[in-house]
Amino acid sequence: TAFVIGPAAAADYPARPITMVVPFSAGGPTDTVTRLVAEAMGKDLGQQIVVENVGGAGGTLGAGRVAKADPDGYTLLLHHIGMATSATLYRKLPYDTLNAFDYVGLVTDVPMTLVARADFEPTDLKSLIEYAKANKDKVTYANAGVGAASHLCGMLFMSKIETVLTTVPYKGTGPAMTDLLGGQVDMMCDQTTNTTNQIKGGKIKAYATTTKQRVASLPDVPTAEEAGLPGFEVGIWHGIYAPKGTSPEVLAKLTASLQTALKDPNVIKRFADLGTAPSSEAEATPDGLKAKLSSEIDRWAPVIKAAGVYAD
Ligand code: MLT
Repeated sequence: TAFVIGPAAAADYPARPITMVVPFSAGGPTDTVTRLVAEAMGKDLGQQIVVENVGGAGGTLGAGRVAKADPDGYTLLLHHIGMATSATLYRKLPYDTLNAFDYVGLVTDVPMTLVARADFEPTDLKSLIEYAKANKDKVTYANAGVGAASHLCGMLFMSKIETVLTTVPYKGTGPAMTDLLGGQVDMMCDQTTNTTNQIKGGKIKAYATTTKQRVASLPDVPTAEEAGLPGFEVGIWHGIYAPKGTSPEVLAKLTASLQTALKDPNVIKRFADLGTAPSSEAEATPDGLKAKLSSEIDRWAPVIKAAGVYAD
């Protein structure tokens, strides 16, 4: 017999561990954010939240997995801006972005950094742009697949400098960072949640942040505008989703728990160390996430259509 979610099940929720799917590799930026929030939410809910990495196809495989899961509150998704851009980037998705999910709330908005392997020749953003234009067949750019934040940022960069570089796709920027550190790939644009410690340790070079103001934890890295590339700006917002049909009681518990987690001093500190901050209480709501997702689909659709990049 099928397990039916009635009011009793919602009142007992959560009665067993919850799985939170990260649609990218372990050890990367989404994974880092998810593990911090999952730990704090699990403490609050009195049940462990187990993080499961389902990487591939720029985050669409993991999102598809959650779209098809039982809407019982035991399978959730933490995904970023890629949820919005993939709605246009992919000709066919295994789910209907705006109708396949219920919303828990926004989590954080992470700055990006344009980085390269430590021994890459260019010393600043201006020389990087010159070098990339002169060596476009040689320079390799890592990303986490079509629909990833690193893909979006790379698209912006390449369109701004009017130069197409050779792209090397990974299942997440966790493994891409390993190759950047090993010198197997030249550069990428990645979230501060993955790059901050490597930049501070001098293990990679940072040319610019994608923010209006400098990132507090990286005071020596100029903004793109300061470094000579105005308009090269993007923030990687993250949200938590549940499969469509999740009971309102369960969603309300999850939203309350997310809001508690985002006030946890450890979460706030670790986020700050990694160049980011928790979303506000008003944003960490179903309406906050829903509004962000639909406005971002509308914002990026014309940009993507103009660039003419699609995946099947
Ligand atoms: C990841 O966790 O690997 C990322 O968020 C990748 C990306 O979107 O660039």
